[in-house]
Amino acid sequence: MKQAEIEKHLGAQLNVPSLPKVIERIRDLLGGPGASMVEVGRAVAQDPPLTARLLRSVNSPHYGLAEPILSPEHAASVAGFRGLENLLLRAPVFSGPISLGLGRFDVRTLWRHSILTARVAAELTRVAAGANGLEPDDMHVCGLLADIGHFVMFDRMGEAWVDVYERAEAEDVGIDVLEREVFGFTHNDLGAMMAKRWALPETIVRATRFHDNENGLAELDALPAIVLVADRIVHCIERGSWKSFQDRTPAACLERLDVEPTELEALGARAAETKIVL
Ligand SMILES: [Fe+2]
Repeated sequence: MKQAEIEKHLGAQLNVPSLPKVIERIRDLLGGPGASMVEVGRAVAQDPPLTARLLRSVNSPHYGLAEPILSPEHAASVAGFRGLENLLLRAPVFSGPISLGLGRFDVRTLWRHSILTARVAAELTRVAAGANGLEPDDMHVCGLLADIGHFVMFDRMGEAWVDVYERAEAEDVGIDVLEREVFGFTHNDLGAMMAKRWALPETIVRATRFHDNENGLAELDALPAIVLVADRIVHCIERGSWKSFQDRTPAACLERLDVEPTELEALGARAAETKIVL
């Protein structure tokens, strides 16, 4: 499906909502004494839609920066107190029953998956010999935003997308495959469209577009390969089993990154200990 057709289907606005708890935490930090912008940036990074908004804002011509900013901590210090207050005021907040979503789906599943993928992507960048030249902090935000298309699809398609999500989980197949079959496009198409429309840094657009190895492109490029492998590790953590890791992870991506399977399992075991409070 062509870009224009997807845009037509989704309309002009992409108002992906944030989680109220995260917004509250940032408000508390900004209202409290001596909040550091590093702390605020880390709190923003607990919410992928809000992170995308912050990066969109600081990378806009308004700030006139010579180099694009990827790090939420750096972005928070550039936006400053007033910029962040404005961002919070304008951010749409999730108003449905968050714990249950559409009766059966906990929307925080999306947040947890992205937060964990971000951490694993950064760690993987540190340990993978084939990731040389890539920065762990940059890969953190790539992991965080790679699945932003899922947030858009959930927001726009609701129940129909949850059905696809649950089918992918039950059958343990790539959700992108089912999305294409049912909707004619994937969360990768949508996420990249959003990242482009919001003029996010090209690095993020690339990770978003290619992290599920469409046309074998993750096998050729270490950046989406890291996000792909991180995503698969997190998937195994979520399922509590590594059974399908090899089947679902292209061997060429692992070769490109030059990592040992034992390193990946150790990394996964450490990530599984992460506590995420949303
Ligand atoms: Fe994905």
